[in-house]
Amino acid sequence: MSIIRKIKDYYKRGLNSNLLFTTPSHSQGNFIPEDLKYVLGQNFYNSDFSEIEGFDNLRNPSGIIKDILDKLTEVYKSKRTFLLTNGSTSGVLAAVLSLLKDGDLILTARNCHISVCNAFILSGAAPVWIMPEYNKQWDIYTQVNPEQIELNLNKNPEIKAVVLTSPTYEGIFSDISTIAQICKKYGVFLIVDEAHGALLNFGAFKSKPAILCGADISIQSLHKTAGAPNPCALLHISKNSSINPETIQSALNLINTTSPSYPLMAAVEGTVDYLNSQAGRVAVEKLLNSISDFKTGLNENITCYEGNNDPTKILLKFKGKSGFEVSEVLNNKYNIEEEFSNNLSMLFITGIGTDKDKLYRLSNALNSIAKETADSDKLTSSSEFDYVLPKPALPLREAYFCSINQENITKLNAKDALGKISAQTLTAYPPGIPIIMPGEIINTQTIALAEKLLNHTVFAVFK
Ligand SMILES: Cc1ncc(COP(=O)(O)O)c(C=O)c1O
Repeated sequence: MSIIRKIKDYYKRGLNSNLLFTTPSHSQGNFIPEDLKYVLGQNFYNSDFSEIEGFDNLRNPSGIIKDILDKLTEVYKSKRTFLLTNGSTSGVLAAVLSLLKDGDLILTARNCHISVCNAFILSGAAPVWIMPEYNKQWDIYTQVNPEQIELNLNKNPEIKAVVLTSPTYEGIFSDISTIAQICKKYGVFLIVDEAHGALLNFGAFKSKPAILCGADISIQSLHKTAGAPNPCALLHISKNSSINPETIQSALNLINTTSPSYPLMAAVEGTVDYLNSQAGRVAVEKLLNSISDFKTGLNENITCYEGNNDPTKILLKFKGKSGFEVSEVLNNKYNIEEEFSNNLSMLFITGIGTDKDKLYRLSNALNSIAKETADSDKLTSSSEFDYVLPKPALPLREAYFCSINQENITKLNAKDALGKISAQTLTAYPPGIPIIMPGEIINTQTIALAEKLLNHTVFAVFK
């Protein structure tokens, strides 16, 4: 049985005349503040139940929710797929918490999302950082080199797991098949943060989903490209993995709310049902074709990044203008907002809700701006980005808990903070790296990057 059908049935069979003296206390929409009717709508409230008779329980599913998990498991060809109503963030936390304990080493590429760092703080897992490759012309991190993974696993037999982001924010994949083979050889788990790859299972992408390439676990945000509302997501365990699904369920139960949203669970189900249908697959194909047409129609002064196997991430740059300059015109004159811009480039995120007309309006605006700059021979330069991994002085978890006590901390300007131990996390997208984590020693590059990306000039450090 499906959640969507269960909710529809509830009203069709007149069960709403039964009295529910349970949470939530709006009594299935009997109470809705007027302003919220516009924001959430009557149907949202009508569908918002707790775990009443017949509605199962996400923490220990045995009825309709188990049916949905079984269906998701089949669609994604996994050992078990879990439904997340708390974003990929909760999937990343659960994956790390279920595989590693305090002091265990985990090999991690530094272009990870902040949820990965938070998972280390919660679990006590100790990161061994590696840097992904960096493309100076576009100011972006690209793939994590498999050789670098092998080198580190070989050097450090204590490492228990590897966690990587693939595809990246910009749609760039690492070679997960090769990395998975290396991880198997050394007996370590591979977790892939695939938050940006939720359409991969439903279209002709050049790269395959991580669990089908040998990763043990992948986590996908359905809200990023696949059209579900925030923050619907999935965690998959690969069929070939030795990970016990019950371990993941326990970790999820540790961090998740005990009142999961039925409208959001229905959204996960409805979104995946659609993507997996003939109509959904056609829609993904249409999206990819529209993006391809969009790129072909761009003015010669605009260059698209072609090194990403996920074309739904449109990364481009203009001859003679910085991303910031184009962004200003695009926002002010054309009312179009991009995901991000930097000195070199701009990123536009598309997804299942992006139709041909939307892309057409964007290409018209970009082409008009490009024509205005056609006379310019000023070439966009490459980035001067330079990042040197800060050295750790204290274990991350210990430093974090030490930083809770404000008496241990002082705030210093950049000049005085150099060489001191950070008491805070600073992260910026792009390029997505945690610039500094608690317990790391602030270096010159940390300061330069924090100033450049965050306008950050005051640093919390340990006294
Ligand atoms: C690479 C990556 N992983 C994980 C997340 C967290 O995803 P969510 O917002 O679904 O919790 C994000 C969010 O931006 C992300 O970019």
